[in-house]
Order: sequence, then C-alpha cells, then structure tokens
Amino acid sequence: MTPPARPSAEAVGAVVFDAYGTLFDVNAAAATLAPEIGPEAAALAELWRRKQLEYSWLRTLMGRHSDFWQVTADALDFAMEKLRLPIGVRPRLLELYFRLPPFADARPLLERCRRQGLKLAILSNGAPEMLNAAITHAGLTEFFDAVLSVEAVGLFKPRPEVYRLAVEHLGVPASRTVFVSANGWDVAGAAAFGFAAVWINRAGEPLERLPALPIAIVASLAELPQAVALD
Ligand code: LAC
Repeated sequence: MTPPARPSAEAVGAVVFDAYGTLFDVNAAAATLAPEIGPEAAALAELWRRKQLEYSWLRTLMGRHSDFWQVTADALDFAMEKLRLPIGVRPRLLELYFRLPPFADARPLLERCRRQGLKLAILSNGAPEMLNAAITHAGLTEFFDAVLSVEAVGLFKPRPEVYRLAVEHLGVPASRTVFVSANGWDVAGAAAFGFAAVWINRAGEPLERLPALPIAIVASLAELPQAVALD
C-alpha cells in the first residue's frame, strides 16, 4: 500500500484529535493508585483498555450501544475480576478515569495549531460528560471549536458515521482535515474514511495490518507540525 499524498500546509483547514490515549493518558488512573493496587497496576491498565476497546467494537457489531462510560466500567469490572484485585479501589479508579490528565505534549501543540488559525476539534468515543470533565480539568476548553462524541450517532469508531460527524460540524472536507490519533486502528478507520490521518505512535507499535494508511507516523504530538508541514 502506498501512503496517501499529504495535503499542502495551506490546504489543511482543521485538525481533529482523538481523545483517549492521544490527548489524555489512559494509563494514569491505574498508575496513580499503583501503591494500593500493587504489581498488577500496569497489567490492569493494559487489560482495562483492551477490554474497553473490544466492548466498544463488539457493541457496535451487535447493534447494542451503550455509552463509553458504561463500557469503561464494564471493562474495569472484567479486568479487576480477571486479575483478582480487591473491589475497594474501583470507585477511585473510575473517578480518576473521569478526569484523566493530558499528555505533556498536548497543550503546546494545541497552542501552535491555534496560532495558525486552524479549526480544532475532538472526535471521541467518550461520552460528552467524560470529555467535558477531562477537557475542563486539563484547562484545554479554550482550544476547541467542537467536542464531538460518538453519542451523536450511537455507534463507536471506526464506523464511518463517526468520522463524518467532524466533516459535518467543521465544514472542512475530509481530505483537508488532519486526524490525529495514537490508536493505530483509529488511524486506519479515519484514513479509510478519507482523512489525512497521522499516527502518534507513542508506544513504538508495528503498523496495524488494516486497509488505509496514515500520511505520517510520529512518536509524539510535538513532532506533528513538522510531519504535516504546518510551519
Ligand atoms: C477515543 C478512543 C478511541 O477517544 O480512545 O475515541
């Protein structure tokens, strides 16, 4: 597969960000409570996230939608039972997940994109209340023209109906929209829809064997402007 052509810097009209794992650190909740959880904290974070994504995909395949907060709690329950963790930390894990911290490279990039006059949005599986809590807690509210949740269509990523929400709300064609995600499967979904997708490959993962390629792969949000020639 040949990577799609990058839009020229002048052609880029909007930058749309995935939320969880891209702007917000999904491992932070378990890491914060690691002193209480013990040596299984990292395994909990990994399994919680994996089940959360599986449940989102499966619910959409089954036609049985519930919002991402429900999916997140269900995934946590599975992971805690599997790892035989005491139930006492559950409420605090969920509380922490509700307002996950942003990655350190998020704010500087958002400031830079704003200075360039680009439209900025979040497009996420997250329920509106979760997204608003995280964005407000992180002090990032001012940056976004739109915070779009899959709840508007009742389907999870990578369904094309979800990505279409961004085009409809921002009025910028997909080919002129840079879609930024740290989730390789989300990048494939966005690229298949027609976005100029950039993969923030924070964990140094291999490329997903899925149809449609990103226009660029970088290791952090800090490298994005160079990768898409935003300067
Ligand atoms: C999101 C998930 C994919 O924010 O992390 O949409």
